[in-house]
Amino acid sequence: MRVVILDSAAEMARVAGKESLERCGLLANRHGKRLGRVVLGLATGGTPVGLYRQWIEHFRAGEISFQSVTTFNLDEYVGLSSSDPRSYHAYMQEHLFDHIDIARENTHLPDGCAEDLNEAAASYEWQIEEAGGIDYQILGIGSDGHIGFNEIGSSLASRTRVKTLTRQTRSDNARYFDSMDQVPTMAITMGIGTIMSARSILLIASGESKSRAIRDAIEGPVTSMVPASVLQLHPDVTIMIDEEASRLLAHCDYYRESEANRVRLKSVSLGVTQGREFP
Ligand code: PGA
Repeated sequence: MRVVILDSAAEMARVAGKESLERCGLLANRHGKRLGRVVLGLATGGTPVGLYRQWIEHFRAGEISFQSVTTFNLDEYVGLSSSDPRSYHAYMQEHLFDHIDIARENTHLPDGCAEDLNEAAASYEWQIEEAGGIDYQILGIGSDGHIGFNEIGSSLASRTRVKTLTRQTRSDNARYFDSMDQVPTMAITMGIGTIMSARSILLIASGESKSRAIRDAIEGPVTSMVPASVLQLHPDVTIMIDEEASRLLAHCDYYRESEANRVRLKSVSLGVTQGREFP
């Protein structure tokens, strides 16, 4: 696992925004590589707003286009229609899709109002597969350690399905509703197995309220009681956090040293590529 600790939430959004675009080939990196079609897994919530703002800025600057991008969101509340301003459909329009050149037919979220929710979940899995699987998955983390809406006790092999939300999650998200009673009790969410099938994963988190979940996910045992801990088993995961979210980690010095070496090694290989010697 690569753990990157940044000074602030704003810095995290800036670095995560640029790196994600480079990693999925939308923004030419220093090697000038651009890929063809790309399938992105997207997250909602407070944390990714800054990252999406960075993407929009790169788009407005004429540096990137989303015409070759297909997206699949992690989850949607059960019972909220796509026109409901509190739905994740509406969130994605407001925070990203309305501001970029992505084709609407290439954007996907689970249908939380489907007559047959199990069928809607199964069909979402199928659509992801049809698209060739997810190349790059953005994740947040719940204060209870959930990823997507995979709450405590979720099977680590689960696929897209209906999940009941914990009281903690409903209380964390109550800020988007008039009262706790209005927060839906269920959601359709990609499963942990679905998320783990992504080729590359970026998890972002900021603030002290995430520090316990971050510690348990990175330094605790792999357990369904902390669903994010399963990421320890994925071969290509980056976790970007701010200082506050890193507060309870025991090995911050080591993560910083590893990252410094990674940057140095990148410079060495770039020097070799360009026929220069690294000083
Ligand atoms: P947040 O939610 O970004 O609003 O904190 C994260 C999550 O629940 O995954």
